[in-house]
Amino acid sequence: MPIQEKRRILEHQQIAPQQYKLTISSPYISANAQPGQFVQVRISSEFDPLLRRPLSIHRHSIKHKSFELLYEVIGKGTELLSQASVGSELDILGPLGKSFMINQSEVAILVGGGMGSAPLLMLAETLKAGPKKKAIYVILGAKTKERIIEENIFREAANEVVIATDDGSYGQHGFVSDVLINLLENVVTPNHYSQTTIYACGPHVMLHAIADLTFQKQIACQVSMEQKMACGIGTCLGCVIKTRSGYKKVCDEGPVFDAKEIEWQV
Ligand code: FES
Repeated sequence: MPIQEKRRILEHQQIAPQQYKLTISSPYISANAQPGQFVQVRISSEFDPLLRRPLSIHRHSIKHKSFELLYEVIGKGTELLSQASVGSELDILGPLGKSFMINQSEVAILVGGGMGSAPLLMLAETLKAGPKKKAIYVILGAKTKERIIEENIFREAANEVVIATDDGSYGQHGFVSDVLINLLENVVTPNHYSQTTIYACGPHVMLHAIADLTFQKQIACQVSMEQKMACGIGTCLGCVIKTRSGYKKVCDEGPVFDAKEIEWQV
């Protein structure tokens, strides 16, 4: 059940060029958020920018009653957000949306492209803390080395982390889908495909490529769809995508979907 509340910024740091991490105090969201959910952040009390910004929940700490958000400065709203000071308050609505489904699979492969890696840390930590011991692989991709998100923290949660960069400045040169093919052919192997779930978040073209691969290999796959959102609560219809059972709202019927549910378009 989402709530709207004004919560204090505990930490706010730049982690890469144009990328920031916010730590926000909230007993409610830290206790109730599930991996893959997001919050809507009101950037300003003025009319401009008017709309809240949807940001994935990156991590939570029930012990510290706080949660983390990652974001990239891409416009006026996030530029203003980057100037928010520690100790000030943000108007937050959340947690929102459908989370990743944690199933009985023995192998979990988490694939994140760019800022799409943000919600996967909470997922990795939740899987690791779960009752069933899983093999957890994480594939992180970005344009350059400096844009790889929180590699060391992912390494604490996963059995193995593999990096891909578009420019080859770190890890493998290429796309996360290339790394995934390699992992599926040489590490996980077909014997384990029926016991594997792939969780992916990133640009549409990346998700489409991963979905196609999982269809070929008959591996379960959940994707977190990125879409522009206005209301974030299912009322404006501004975030619909085409699925096999009609149009669905990414904000409250997603953002996580079974990859088989999506009508993938080029
Ligand atoms: Fe308004 Fe989804 S953002 S319905």
